[in-house]
Amino acid sequence: MTTPRPETLAKLTPVLTKRWLSPDAWRIGTYEQLDGYAALRKALKAHPDDLIQLIKDSGLRGRGGAGFPTGLKWGFIPQGDGKPHYLVVNADEGEPGTCKDLPLMTHDPHALVEGVIIASYAIRAARAYIYIRGEAVHAARRLRNAVQEAYDKGYLGRNILRSGYDLELVVHSGAGAYICGEETALLDSLEGFRGQPRLRPPFPATHGLYASPTVVNNVGTIASVPPIVLGGADWWKTMGTEKSSGPMIYSLSGRINNPGQYECSMGVTLRDLLELAGGMQPGHNLKFWTPGGSSTPLLAAEHLDVPLDFEGVAAAGSILGTTATQIFSDQDCPVYATYRWLEFYHHESCGKCTPCREGNYWMVRVYRRILAGQGTHEDLDTLLDTCDNILGRSFCGLGDGATSSVTSSLKYFKQDYLDYIEGRTAPKLSDKQLVGAH
Ligand SMILES: Cc1cc2nc3c(=O)[nH]c(=O)nc-3n(C[C@H](O)[C@H](O)[C@H](O)COP(=O)(O)O)c2cc1C
Ligand code: SF4
Repeated sequence: MTTPRPETLAKLTPVLTKRWLSPDAWRIGTYEQLDGYAALRKALKAHPDDLIQLIKDSGLRGRGGAGFPTGLKWGFIPQGDGKPHYLVVNADEGEPGTCKDLPLMTHDPHALVEGVIIASYAIRAARAYIYIRGEAVHAARRLRNAVQEAYDKGYLGRNILRSGYDLELVVHSGAGAYICGEETALLDSLEGFRGQPRLRPPFPATHGLYASPTVVNNVGTIASVPPIVLGGADWWKTMGTEKSSGPMIYSLSGRINNPGQYECSMGVTLRDLLELAGGMQPGHNLKFWTPGGSSTPLLAAEHLDVPLDFEGVAAAGSILGTTATQIFSDQDCPVYATYRWLEFYHHESCGKCTPCREGNYWMVRVYRRILAGQGTHEDLDTLLDTCDNILGRSFCGLGDGATSSVTSSLKYFKQDYLDYIEGRTAPKLSDKQLVGAH
């Protein structure tokens, strides 16, 4: 196991994670002792428009995957329209490999609650929702407890801190479907319908929850708001790169010695992150990795020094996504890993549009055939052709994301496919698992 050098350790920038290791970090007493709710007091003295401007100036971009500028999104909410406004926090976190929002809500739920109050005040919402993944029982319990503590202390409810501002905050547990992380499917689910994406436009900024102006933001985005209010936009921009400001929680999993969450300035490289995580496990060499979850194209060992910010990863042909860095070694098979991800997308496809519903179904079958040693060279063309018919033709990002590991693994690791097809690699699946593969 490698020990990180002091200069690499210095790349850790704990802002959202800074309280995680404090005793009882999830309790309001601990939170208040460690700067908690100081940002709210400051924010309630400011004009809401000034808060929106502050977030614009900080350059904060959404932490839910797409990196949309947060201040700009808040600014889209029409003011003086006489309609109720809503803030909805997306705490669904269903992307394979992604593990930053649930630990945040488990260890430091008040950071999210405080962010919710400030963001709701800025967009003039009187009601906010946190939509949390149903299976995340422990995190939901901590969050509900934190919300109750905040009500008891007068941070939520009527006339918050005697400012005249009222806010109700509801924690809603979903039933556990990846598609309900897509923001419009989430809104349908929250309204009590089956979670399926809505046609856009109109966008949630004008026709969101209950057809009213709504901001949907990721947990990490909203939890970034209190530190920005306290530290200021210029301080926030001392971390990260010009277009990707601030710190980011990178969740590392796979063939490394110390998996977990590492918060660093955006633009850190996988080389640094691997050093922080104690290096690769003994006997394993890096072969492929995802920069931001299973829906981002795979990168290879040659990409160790790519800056992990929105622009740097895009220039390398992938997507920063949720910064879920899954590490695979030369003892892992990219064909099999891609098959397992496709099984997930096939299972989670909501079925609303044909390219995703049918394409994933068929691709799973082609993979089974290849992994059972019965694939053909033509199958590789079929996979690329199917991806071509899914990418950009699906109704939502789930379909697009499903193609990422297929096309990228064929780009970097075609030989691994050929080894199955030409009989050099022993089949990984048996004939029994081949049902429906022909
Ligand atoms: C299939 C699918 C699943 C998604 N899951 C999540 C999720 O679990 N959490 C999340 O914040 N965003 C998720 N998103 C992105 C959201 O649609 C939306 O962009 C995000 O919540 C906006 O928040 P942000 O601007 O703070 O990043 C998902 C998108 C797709 C297409
Ligand atoms: S892309 Fe997939 S998940 Fe999205 S609407 Fe179409 S079928 Fe549903």
